[in-house]
Amino acid sequence: MSATVPRVPAGSLRREDAGRTVQVKGWVHRRRDFGELVFVDLRDRSGILQVVFDAELLDEPELLGRAKELRGEYVLAVTGAIVPREGSARNPDMPTGDVELRATALELLNRAETPPFVIEDDVRASEDLRLKYRYLDLRRPEMTSNLVKRSDVTFRIRQVLHEEGFLEVETPILTKSTPEGARDFLVPSRVHPGEFYALPQSPQLFKQLLMVAGMDRYYQIARCFRDEDLRADRQPEFTQVDLELSFPDEETVYALIEKLFAAVFPAYGIPCPVPFPRMTHAEAMDRFGIDRPDTRFGLELRALDVSASPSEILRSAETAKGIAVPGGAAFSRKRLDELEAAAKQLGAAGLVWVKLQAEPPGSWGSNAKKMLDDATVASARAALEAKDGDLLLVVAGKRATVNDVLGALRLRIAREEKLVPEDRFDFLWVTDFPLLEWHPEDGRWYATHHPFTAPRPEDVPFLDTDPGRVHARAYDVVLNGMELGGGSIRIHQPEVQSKVFATLGISPDEAKAKFGFLLEAFRYGAPPHGGLALGLDRMLMVLTRSASIRDVIAFPKTASASCLMTESPGPVADAQLAELGIRRAGDDGPKPA
Ligand code: AMO
Repeated sequence: MSATVPRVPAGSLRREDAGRTVQVKGWVHRRRDFGELVFVDLRDRSGILQVVFDAELLDEPELLGRAKELRGEYVLAVTGAIVPREGSARNPDMPTGDVELRATALELLNRAETPPFVIEDDVRASEDLRLKYRYLDLRRPEMTSNLVKRSDVTFRIRQVLHEEGFLEVETPILTKSTPEGARDFLVPSRVHPGEFYALPQSPQLFKQLLMVAGMDRYYQIARCFRDEDLRADRQPEFTQVDLELSFPDEETVYALIEKLFAAVFPAYGIPCPVPFPRMTHAEAMDRFGIDRPDTRFGLELRALDVSASPSEILRSAETAKGIAVPGGAAFSRKRLDELEAAAKQLGAAGLVWVKLQAEPPGSWGSNAKKMLDDATVASARAALEAKDGDLLLVVAGKRATVNDVLGALRLRIAREEKLVPEDRFDFLWVTDFPLLEWHPEDGRWYATHHPFTAPRPEDVPFLDTDPGRVHARAYDVVLNGMELGGGSIRIHQPEVQSKVFATLGISPDEAKAKFGFLLEAFRYGAPPHGGLALGLDRMLMVLTRSASIRDVIAFPKTASASCLMTESPGPVADAQLAELGIRRAGDDGPKPA
């Protein structure tokens, strides 16, 4: 009989399906036994459906006995009629809660051992256990739904890019180091002993070569590999929506990404009004102390005039800035000490706090009374538009440190004080990045993005005289303080590229060894080009409201970059190493006989 009965997704059934005879296949999510009546919640990728084995209605009474033997995670095929549930029998919490399937046939397709944790959304198991048994964790409806959404999102992205004339091209995984600033993962070559491939940190060089090749518009859902310290929004292996266009300007890229986002975010309940606001890098650093500002709340940084303060430390600092915390005068001493410790850990010499008090009018208390006077506090209060009962936090020192420290304190306090509106989504373009960053520790310039980013034409002369003044034609797209993507218009003229390499201290020989193939390609008619890469995993974190990047990746790595399921990385056999011409440290090779 079942051959003619259609198999339907369990989670798809609704009241309008009442009367149909269908077959569902899936896993036993839960079983409840009431003697003459056995309920089985059957789960498949689409959802959960209640199946009933009712002694009174069964033509074959032995079916009830078989239903009683079912255990969690057994795999079944069940056939029967869809019937409506009425009144208190309805389950408004389940999408299929208006119906149930009255079983008339049951086929046990496979048994299962008791899983190491209960498969339900309200999971109690540790994340390590979930990662070890990831295939079971992925059966949890929440995780299944994340993967379904991931597939839907990449489909939507492909659709838009296809409509916009983009060509999907795959680029190599076994390749040469790409300069994105992280450490490479290396793969030894057997055929070329002592030589290594690098896994790509991004397809950057290949996408530029594809523009030279005349592909005009390229994209790829690209796997990237970076050996860097991991955080909640970082994985050693992650996915970019990587794209590049010939003959674009910044506006072309902005409009394209806005169109792409408008096709994705609203479908997940996230409003996405376009065009997105824009902010220069300089303004972001000034007002928020960070290049990816979360603009959903205030607590903005302001420069303070401390020129008349009694403190030489304040007066001589490169800059002094502050934030005002509404109502923060009520913070306990312990909490202020914690904030000060955090500031010091981030590199500040100290944190000055000032509590603005109502009584007597204009009075204040501080941990650094000797560094301040009434006039300095009054001017800080005015600059920060603070009122009685507020707390001022002031940091003085090098501009970069002051921004770092206050930027971080701003985020921490907003989180702790619940000042962040969770239902708000602020998209933002950050533009006009500096092309170069000075690293005092090794006394040289580094590319803020990568060395192929074009300088603003009017700034090119400063490459020789004042490299810190050169702005890049680079942009990041930021959502609620998270960098979702970044890109730039690239250099396509060999002379400009040589100048940038020279400023970066990359000699012509080194440039040739590292990127000779790209520089050579540029000699054969490189079109002006530019692009951007989006962090697909980060986009999915937002779309699925996941706190961890691991929750949107089918088989992620732990914070220490291992896979608990496959136990990788793992040891390899000596023979395999020998074949690759690799010796373990401390191993002098084969002993003489
Ligand atoms: P960038 O290095 O800014 O640019 O990377 C682009 C985006 O990729 C995401 N991302 C990550 N996501 C998860 N884990 C990581 N470890 C990780 N690192 C980066 C971020 C980031 O915004 N080739 C250039 C792009 C270009 O210039 O076109 C590039 O890779 O969301």
